[in-house]
Amino acid sequence: MLYPELSSLDDFEFIKNLGSGYSSTVDLYRHIQSDRIVAMKKLSTKNLTQSECRKTYDTEITILTKLRGCSNVVQLIGFGFYTTTEISTRRTRTLNNYFLILEYIDAQPLDKSSERITKQFYYKLLLTLQRIHELGVVHRDLNLNNVLVQNNEPILIDFAFGAVTNGKQKFTEFYGTKPYVAPEIVDGQSYLPYPTEVYSLGVILLELINNEDSKEIAAQMMQQNPYKRPNLEDVIAHPWFQS
Ligand SMILES: Nc1ncnc2c1ncn2[C@@H]1O[C@H](COP(=O)(O)OP(=O)(O)OP(=O)(O)O)[C@@H](O)[C@H]1O
Ligand SMILES: [Mg+2]
Repeated sequence: MLYPELSSLDDFEFIKNLGSGYSSTVDLYRHIQSDRIVAMKKLSTKNLTQSECRKTYDTEITILTKLRGCSNVVQLIGFGFYTTTEISTRRTRTLNNYFLILEYIDAQPLDKSSERITKQFYYKLLLTLQRIHELGVVHRDLNLNNVLVQNNEPILIDFAFGAVTNGKQKFTEFYGTKPYVAPEIVDGQSYLPYPTEVYSLGVILLELINNEDSKEIAAQMMQQNPYKRPNLEDVIAHPWFQS
């Protein structure tokens, strides 16, 4: 880690907002001393409670630490929190403002004019997921907002719903973004994580490439019955990716 757990943002200068989601605001900052540009993900108490912020913070730190050095995955540079005081007529309370300092991804739209580029992009995404699973992590919120594009390569971000697992235990929490969420999660069943990741990747495939071959592969990946879906290795080995 470049910095120890920080207790303020004093060493950083705000440049601009990069985006925001349900649980956070992400801004571009400059580390004043080193002149390094970073993406600062600040967990927001707009939609999350203090304990949910803390949980997300801990999850992302644990997972991104496990994925250090993993290509096509955003890298964690530092983290910390600072306190602010919220005064209302009823009570005064101290809030922890959690932040993650991430490698800045200068994201561009994917060049969809060439199917070869799009297919390569998607294939890289599959390989990245395979590597992450091997490292004992599942993402659980795969969708195109969480895949940034840099030089037509995927960079996976947002591990807020991620989990550390060998893939054998079932999960019960509802996580994900519609329409990428597998039906067994929507139905409130307990679920094995890998087949749900394959389902989300099927939805992403349909979004990226729309032809007979891609539709056929996506249909396999998006089968209702999770046990009938191909596993990631089967999808990766499909001859369509070599053509
Ligand atoms: N490292 C980064 N470099 C550049 N932009 C980023 C980076 N991380 C996040 N962003 C931008 O900020 C947005 C929100 O980030 P992220 O998905 O991590 O947060 P979130 O609040 O969990 O989002 P959501 O709840 O909507 O999934 C991203 O969609 C992206 O546009
Ligand atoms: Mg997101």
